[in-house]
Amino acid sequence: MSDKEQIDLNRIPQHVAIIMDGNGRWAKQRGQERSYGHRAGAETVHAIAEEAARLGIKFLTLYTFSTENWNRPTNEVTAIMNLLIDSIEEETFMNNNISFRIVGDINKLPKDLQKRLYDCIEHTSSNTGMCLVLALSYSSRWEITDAARKIAIEISKGELSPEEIDCKCISAHLATNFMPDPDLLIRTGGEIRLSNYLLWQCAYSELYFCETFWPDFKEEELQKAIYDYQKRERRFGKTSEQVS
Ligand code: IPE
Ligand code: IPE
Ligand code: MG
Repeated sequence: MSDKEQIDLNRIPQHVAIIMDGNGRWAKQRGQERSYGHRAGAETVHAIAEEAARLGIKFLTLYTFSTENWNRPTNEVTAIMNLLIDSIEEETFMNNNISFRIVGDINKLPKDLQKRLYDCIEHTSSNTGMCLVLALSYSSRWEITDAARKIAIEISKGELSPEEIDCKCISAHLATNFMPDPDLLIRTGGEIRLSNYLLWQCAYSELYFCETFWPDFKEEELQKAIYDYQKRERRFGKTSEQVS
């Protein structure tokens, strides 16, 4: 039986987060510029978003551009920003009932890209299927620092007391406050690290690493990751007897 046939559709992870890594190396292997890999990666985004929606995943959060990625050569950053403008396809979202959202330090993005993103968010906002979230100019430390600042402002205005700060309060002040924590985090491209992605939210996520470069990550690999996830026992600190 294939992984897809073995997947239990009643136990699909609600939230899958992906660190889409390996575009540059994929291109280099083919003797091409890194931007060629980013273009191929954008196609994978569409295919994987459609498959995730078909499987019944509620939130798909894709690490698209990190705060640290601003330090790449200017020509690569520009190529990625232009590619983003070209590859935000409302049609794919409308055809698949997908609503589109973004998280990150969005003000840093070029103005024309911001407009494209906000238009797409607005046009897809009444879709009721999967929510596709791009993490753009995002890093966890940026997000947590920003949340700390927001909490401090509320305290200084007397709207919140220090005693009210708990895990729920911190989660509520994060940019990702509209979704549950990821059940499954996938990283493609062979590196075994989180690179500043959803550090708070992944406290109890199942982690899945694969060697495949993002442009080669096909629907079957997503199915494989989900099947692998379903074989695990999530204990959240309890004993096996308690959770079974
Ligand atoms: C991921 O692929 C895409 C971004 C970080 C924008 P990379 O560009 O990091 O590709 P590699 O890791 O260098 O192969
Ligand atoms: C993480 O990939 C960021 C994204 C996938 C957008 P990087 O390629 O930037 O991460 P490092 O440098 O290998 O940690
Ligand atoms: Mg990389």
